[in-house]
Amino acid sequence: MAGNSFGKLFKLTTFGESHGVAIGGVIEGCPSGLKLDLEAIQNELNRRKPGQSKIVTQRKEPDTVEFYSGIFEGVTTGTPIGFAIHNTNQKSKDYSHIKNVYRPSHADYTYDKKYGVRDYRGGGRSSARETASRVVAGAIAKQLLASIKINAFTSSVGDVFLDKPYQDLDFSKIESNVIRCPDEATAEQMISKVQEIKKQGDTIGGTITCVLQNVPVGLGEPVFDKLHAELGKAMLSINAVKGFEYGSGFCGARMKGSEHNDLFNEDGSTKTNLSGGVQGGISNGMDIYFRVAFKPVATVIQKQDALDSSGNIVEMQGKGRHDPCVVPRAVPIVEAMAALVLADYVLLDRVSRL
Ligand SMILES: Cc1cc2nc3c(=O)[nH]c(=O)nc-3n(C[C@H](O)[C@H](O)[C@H](O)COP(=O)(O)O)c2cc1C
Repeated sequence: MAGNSFGKLFKLTTFGESHGVAIGGVIEGCPSGLKLDLEAIQNELNRRKPGQSKIVTQRKEPDTVEFYSGIFEGVTTGTPIGFAIHNTNQKSKDYSHIKNVYRPSHADYTYDKKYGVRDYRGGGRSSARETASRVVAGAIAKQLLASIKINAFTSSVGDVFLDKPYQDLDFSKIESNVIRCPDEATAEQMISKVQEIKKQGDTIGGTITCVLQNVPVGLGEPVFDKLHAELGKAMLSINAVKGFEYGSGFCGARMKGSEHNDLFNEDGSTKTNLSGGVQGGISNGMDIYFRVAFKPVATVIQKQDALDSSGNIVEMQGKGRHDPCVVPRAVPIVEAMAALVLADYVLLDRVSRL
């Protein structure tokens, strides 16, 4: 299996399956001398972990990260940082019904056809459990970036939308509710929506908005590795993501150039920011903001038709502990992936000119 690494200089490789012994990763290229706040790393993992509230999967995992290398007396040594998170609460029996059956819109069919061998327990390598390793690496990247502010929040659940520009939001309120929406009234409606859907044994999609502030001018490597292209890849690599747009996004396609242009101020900043902080693939010093769309997850606790490995359409009842809506747990994953992109591009930028 190729494609388990992300980044060029600040590079994360992850390993592990949902019901294996452990998941984890190796980070190469983290500069030496970074004093790490290990508690802050664990806090990021706690924001992603299952069982954290009534509206997420009830799998109970402590998700405690153990570091094996690359850190000495709390400071990075410049050598590979190896880490693991042990899986402790697997219930593999919950998955025996999909041993020879492919769930619709999950990764069972494609993994089986591609590799011919499939660890069906908990979705194996296709499980979003893998993203815990990204959160660990992202938390380290955040500490490397220090002055750059990265905030993601839930901006819609189904047809419940947060209809406020991000500039009017107080990001310190993101963690004040279980859905991670900084507007309390909208958060309540979103939570009710998830609860209602969960009662029906169904699932629902949603969007996450992410804002990157204090990003210096000059990050991004045209032509193929434009900053927004890398952010897009990072976000689209997260399980269940179906869409990515930055700046004016798809709305920009309906506008005229005279309306869309961000006119300059004398200091190079712009009066508007429909560009979303990136021009020509390079950051321009304005806020970078983007939205990520998550589908309703495939495993519904209802009867649905599925395909078995012998080619028969069979009725299947979803089982196990699943997320009715992934967005609250995906907020720290989006932030982590954004941090990995920025850390990599900050390091790459150091060799761009004399
Ligand atoms: C935080 C998070 C939690 C998820 N939890 C579940 C889940 O409980 N059940 C499920 O079927 N899919 C879940 N998914 C989605 C699957 O991992 C994903 O749909 C599957 O790997 C197929 O990939 P694709 O949807 O990107 O094509 C979750 C995704 C994320 C980001």
